[in-house]
Amino acid sequence: MKITDLDTPAVLIDLDKLEQNIQRMAAFAKAQGIDLRPHIKTHKIPQIAFMQLRAGAVGITCQKLGEAEVMAAAGIDDILITYNIVGEHKLHRLAQLKRLANVCTVVDSEEVMAPLAARMQQEGLQHEVMIEINTGLNRCGVLPEEPVLALVQRLQQYPSLKLRGIFTHEGHVYNFPHLEERESAVMKAANDMKRTAQLLREQGFPCEVISVGSTPSAMIIGKSAGITELRPGNYVFYDRVQLKLGSCTEEQIAASVLATVISRLAPDRAIIDAGNKTMCTDNAADFDKTIGMVVDYPELTFNYSSEEHGRITSQAGNIDLKVGDRVRLIPNHACGMMNMHDEVYGIRGDTVEAVWKVAARGKIR
Ligand SMILES: Cc1ncc(COP(=O)(O)O)c(C=O)c1O
Repeated sequence: MKITDLDTPAVLIDLDKLEQNIQRMAAFAKAQGIDLRPHIKTHKIPQIAFMQLRAGAVGITCQKLGEAEVMAAAGIDDILITYNIVGEHKLHRLAQLKRLANVCTVVDSEEVMAPLAARMQQEGLQHEVMIEINTGLNRCGVLPEEPVLALVQRLQQYPSLKLRGIFTHEGHVYNFPHLEERESAVMKAANDMKRTAQLLREQGFPCEVISVGSTPSAMIIGKSAGITELRPGNYVFYDRVQLKLGSCTEEQIAASVLATVISRLAPDRAIIDAGNKTMCTDNAADFDKTIGMVVDYPELTFNYSSEEHGRITSQAGNIDLKVGDRVRLIPNHACGMMNMHDEVYGIRGDTVEAVWKVAARGKIR
């Protein structure tokens, strides 16, 4: 099948670029002597997770239990879920999942830890946990050093739980468009993590794993001696936000959306069949109000979308596209875009080589 045979809108994954992105990060981690545990929330596709494992990843990271269930059912057996598991429904599912795969979860408070420990005890299971540390994102996570030590001390009263280590998602680096600011936020996060691990070790608590991760920080924080695990996710595809941050070049972006021009009623306006439900309007770094980038047409701006319509405009006047023409769009945020699609097409040149079900899409529980 050729790309021209596909109906639109359709997500295209450039397989050469995908493979290169996977290899590059794997080679970087290997050169640093650091474990790579990629976050699969970007692609949500077991086949891509297996490509990452074959390239050397030690396991995968999932955000939601539902994503982990999909990956475990596909045969992946080393999974870190970087999300507090709260509530009876999920504790039950976690216990089931642990019979299928080696699953580690995270905690950032006694309120999360106590029911988890009780459930594991009741099920006769031993469970490894990581403590989440807030290094600046101000989402989940205890503050570094003493608060972490206090939580680890509390952990000792639960025989069903074992400490694997500490982790952070230094996602606040997305807020720093300038490299120097980003580097200093990344180094602060690395130092917070290392100081905390040192304190735990001094107090007699083994802290085997110091896990960090985001795509814009990966190749900076990964060079910081003492960090043991990297969890970037977006790097498999990259996107417009990563391009703006300088995490990648335009040539390295592997995911795009193929769309068709459906209306041309003004010289400076083209309407395409890709809107919010195709592109995802998430714009992590909030650089501007555009929805994405039009490949090969740098003069065009994709500046409005409703559910099923996208509007491309040109400041220069005439747009050289007619109804029925096709364009390729780079999404602002590839992870959100993937969640909108049932399947994606793996391409090489103009040939469609693979059709992948986005098996873990919509797994919000
Ligand atoms: C806990 C955690 N780890 C790793 C990542 C991967 O970061 P990125 O999407 O920048 O690659 C994320 C992304 O949201 C995350 O939440």
